[in-house]
Amino acid sequence: MEQYIIKGGIPLVGEIDISGAKNAALPIISAAIMSDETVTLENIPDVNDINVLLEAIEKIGARIVRVDRHTVKINGSTISECGVDLESMKKIRASYYLLGSLLGKYKKAEVPLPGGCNIGSRPIDLHLKGFRAMGVKVDLRYGNVIAGCDCMHGAHIFLDIVSVGATINIMIAASMASGRTIIENAAKEPHVVDVANFLNSMGANIKGAGTDVIRINGVEKLHGTTYSIVPDMIEAGTFMVAAAATRGDVVLRNVIPKHLEAMRAKLEEIGCEVEGGDDSLRVVAKHRLNRAHVKTQPYPGFPTDMQPQIGVLLALAEGTSIVTESIFENRFKYVDELARMGASIKVEGNTAIIDGVDKLTAAQISAPDLRAGAALVVAGLTAEGFTIVDDIGYIKRGYEDFDAKLRSLGAEIETVTSERDIQKFKLKVG
Ligand code: UD1
Repeated sequence: MEQYIIKGGIPLVGEIDISGAKNAALPIISAAIMSDETVTLENIPDVNDINVLLEAIEKIGARIVRVDRHTVKINGSTISECGVDLESMKKIRASYYLLGSLLGKYKKAEVPLPGGCNIGSRPIDLHLKGFRAMGVKVDLRYGNVIAGCDCMHGAHIFLDIVSVGATINIMIAASMASGRTIIENAAKEPHVVDVANFLNSMGANIKGAGTDVIRINGVEKLHGTTYSIVPDMIEAGTFMVAAAATRGDVVLRNVIPKHLEAMRAKLEEIGCEVEGGDDSLRVVAKHRLNRAHVKTQPYPGFPTDMQPQIGVLLALAEGTSIVTESIFENRFKYVDELARMGASIKVEGNTAIIDGVDKLTAAQISAPDLRAGAALVVAGLTAEGFTIVDDIGYIKRGYEDFDAKLRSLGAEIETVTSERDIQKFKLKVG
């Protein structure tokens, strides 16, 4: 089994390129099959969740050509079935986006109920409520969502909770429904806007993405396009935190600074220097950082996907910090692992009370989910001694070449698969 081994205590210094956003690429790949012409997607991150989804759409008949590591051509004209039956699809959350795209194009779909990180109860009732309002009959049977209709029509849909997934899924399906759909209380995340821009580049008629009301006029056909995926704000945020936690100096290239404002504001509040360029951001931390209070919120608030990383940073800050998780109820699973490294954190309900410590010490720890796993790697980068991180499969679902990118900034981290590899690493780095 793969693990990371890290020798901590080295400030990260240098420049790195941020990859395309996984959470934009997943719905965009799903929606690409709605055209019978070829869609070329650029800046696709090479991460496991994406590869599982590409395999799934190939299995239902789409033609996939990998032009290079980050470019893929998808042609949906050869799709022969609307049922997705792939064991690995059950593990990824974004399997639900194939519901929207298959329903939009073929008016029927059968998709496994989504899996993904276990960060709390993750229902898809809002997605299904939206589809039902558009005339779709939805059944849940044997762990699958089975949906279909003769004619999918536009509808006026109010989302009770701001949901990224439901907003995108309804938008995808509505782009090929007959008539007008209005989504109220829509999510405003950059990936919602990216999916709308992508669909519009295929001939869809979507207005208002990025605000809380999205209006979609359904079209009969979508055509081919070439589209480049937006940079990953969560990967960027993770490297911002890694730079700050190790008291480093890192320039992130290929970012949209506007998407990183919540993170930037919090890092400046606790004492980092952050300089923005047109498509780059530099984060410098020269001394111990200060405490802060953080509450996760839908965009443009502080992202829930950055909560574990900022938690690690505040575990090392001066004073007592409070982190409130208001999106998912089970996102503090990293806290027990961090406590084993010497952090002082008490969790009460959806709040973590963090008493900052001077330093963390190395331990063998386990990644509980994708973002918490990345956060624990950041903890390891700061800790004295050799940290071993287990279950790094979670991290590989969403971060491309995480260890290699960290190494390019000077970190001592390697993927190992045996005790022999661990000993070799220890001998090498001393
Ligand atoms: C997406 C992201 C995930 C991120 C989250 C919030 C993907 C693949 N995943 O997840 O990384 O943490 O957005 O930014 O893009 N809810 C319902 N019913 C629904 C749908 C959601 O009650 O039908 C609730 C959820 O339980 C949660 C909240 O709404 O409390 C927000 O969830 P949502 O924005 O839908 O998250 P995901 O799309 O699953």
